[in-house]
Amino acid sequence: MKCKRCTDKAIVQLRSHNAAFCKPCFVFFFQRTVERAIAREHMFARDERVLVAVSGGKDSLALWDVLVDLGYETEGLYLGLGIGAYSSASEQKARAFAEKRGLPLQVVPLDETEDGLGIPAVAAATRRPPCSACGTFKRHHFDRAAFEGGFPVLATGHNLDDEAARLLGNVLHWQVPYLAKQQPVLVPTHPRFARKVRPLFRTSELESATYAFLRGIDYVVEECPNSHGATQLVYKDILNRLEHSMPGSKLAFVIDFLSRGQPLFASAPEADLRECERCGMPATGDLCGYCRLVAEVGRRHAQAVAHS
Ligand code: AMP
Ligand code: FES
Ligand code: ZN
Repeated sequence: MKCKRCTDKAIVQLRSHNAAFCKPCFVFFFQRTVERAIAREHMFARDERVLVAVSGGKDSLALWDVLVDLGYETEGLYLGLGIGAYSSASEQKARAFAEKRGLPLQVVPLDETEDGLGIPAVAAATRRPPCSACGTFKRHHFDRAAFEGGFPVLATGHNLDDEAARLLGNVLHWQVPYLAKQQPVLVPTHPRFARKVRPLFRTSELESATYAFLRGIDYVVEECPNSHGATQLVYKDILNRLEHSMPGSKLAFVIDFLSRGQPLFASAPEADLRECERCGMPATGDLCGYCRLVAEVGRRHAQAVAHS
């Protein structure tokens, strides 16, 4: 098997691209795919500071590595979700990555913020699945850190497999408002929001794992112990089986949706946003979704005390 670019001995085969690459050419290919995604989708310009949300996993650390190598000005953001050994291990990976490269990393331990709530505490109090509370908390703290730090852009490590699984779920249930918002760039709908971008939307999980390995990036391998995205995992498995029989179908599913399907949904009306009475971040009602959840936890705790 020969490298498609330089004809040296290839070490990676990408059936979806009908190509194989040697180490330097794969690194070049991966970085160029990300660079082109940033340029074509107008994600951010050279002079814009980018806040990169890093979970300690392969995708977000690979993304940070690429952005630094391409010369962008970045800062990392790690949220300590308080999920036991999983959170400690992922924090350690994110910190080690930043320290080794001398990069700035902001660490926000959720149970040490003013609301003092980690994900397990919220899930236990509200009896909701941890992942739903987790999504609300992550979005809030991403938005807040970007706003307070004056970052116009917030980048996450969502990859092609994530996007394809999300699309399959949205199509299976005809989630029209979600289809309207499924884009690699979300333009801010309020001055306190940053532009949210997903520069890895064209590169697969396999490609970011390969990139991380070849670049010597030490990442947390374990998945979150909560049934995080159990349904997503079913969708990913189905898409992988499809990909196995028809290489390239995952990429085509997402790319063709973005060019031909998504514009048909994009006219869904935007909710009017004001500022949350409690935290000041954008909200559709008096309180934002995050503050409503924190208030619910407070009510449940008060009820528990009253009944004890
Ligand atoms: P997930 O929702 O776990 O699939 O993660 C999707 C993306 O969200 C990751 O690639 C990261 O960019 C970001 N992310 C997830 N967890 C964290 C975290 N604890 N701290 C900062 N960013 C995170
Ligand atoms: Fe949020 Fe698992 S990462 S619940
Ligand atoms: Zn709020």
